Amino acid sequence: MRKLLAIMFCVLLFFLCACAGDKYTVSSTPEDNLIVVGFSQVGAESEWRVANTESIKSTLSEENGYMLLFDDARQEQENQIRAIRMFIQQNVDYIVFSPKVETGWNSILLEAKEANIPVIMIDRYIEQQDWELFTAFVGSDFYKQGEIAVNWLEDFLKSKGREVEPIRIVHIQGTIGSTPQIGRTTALEKAVERNPNWQIIAQECGDFTRAKAYEVMSSVLKQTRDIDVVYCENDGEALGAIDAMEEAGLKCHPNDGVIVISFDATRLGLEYCLQGKIALNVECNPLQGPYVDRIIKKLERGEPIDRINYVEETYFDYFTITRKIIDSRAY
Ligand code: AHR
Repeated sequence: MRKLLAIMFCVLLFFLCACAGDKYTVSSTPEDNLIVVGFSQVGAESEWRVANTESIKSTLSEENGYMLLFDDARQEQENQIRAIRMFIQQNVDYIVFSPKVETGWNSILLEAKEANIPVIMIDRYIEQQDWELFTAFVGSDFYKQGEIAVNWLEDFLKSKGREVEPIRIVHIQGTIGSTPQIGRTTALEKAVERNPNWQIIAQECGDFTRAKAYEVMSSVLKQTRDIDVVYCENDGEALGAIDAMEEAGLKCHPNDGVIVISFDATRLGLEYCLQGKIALNVECNPLQGPYVDRIIKKLERGEPIDRINYVEETYFDYFTITRKIIDSRAY
């Protein structure tokens, strides 16, 4: 019955979207035996996000037994809440969503729970007090990523005999209140506490985009050019910050310039790493579709699942990255 209702709703939605040019996308023609999944994505703010959307869309495909309803929230939490409510009304079999920020999900997830629809959270998390409201999580350990970055920086500065000299850091943060921002920021701030020679001389939000990071870095450079490290919370921000520094005549390189640290390890980010413009790039793995597929198929078969699933991740630095590594990457 649930499937029938969802399919009827989807057909209706499909025609409404066709008429209104709306943003809902139905990725397949409805079939009664397909698993119906509603997916609410945060937006398309970065290369990472585009790869993440593609991974979910290509895995939860009709050939693989799914009918996917996709909604792009365009960076607005209220759009995500609206989409999830729509999925509940459509009586989908599963809801998959990537929460923009950690707070504000209690009521809508309670609605999903009351409707008996399993929710699979991907990429980011919601605040701990609401953790009983989702069925499974697939994504990154962002604090661990931040720790990899600051530990690398500590070791690198030590290897250069710079462990006591003042290290002036510009910190460009991601979307405030999102899990990657909280994890990566916390790791840096803890490292600053334990390294008395490190100082955050500017801390600004770059919203995970190249354009915003370029803007904030340009304004920092009007105040000072005395910068040792720029810690960017994703590749888009790193590229924007590098654009601004190069325009101002600063060199970005771990050997004789500003040390740029980034997260994501997208193909373009790794190209910058090969040139030394990004000294360290900590991977954030967007290929989460296969994990979600495995969880749903297990739930369908009534098998037990792991509730918390961290994706596999590594890191790359200027000293070890190669062309071969970049060419072998999937995104
Ligand atoms: O939540 C993952 C983060 O969000 C990625 O680091 C960033 O690129 C994206 O926009």
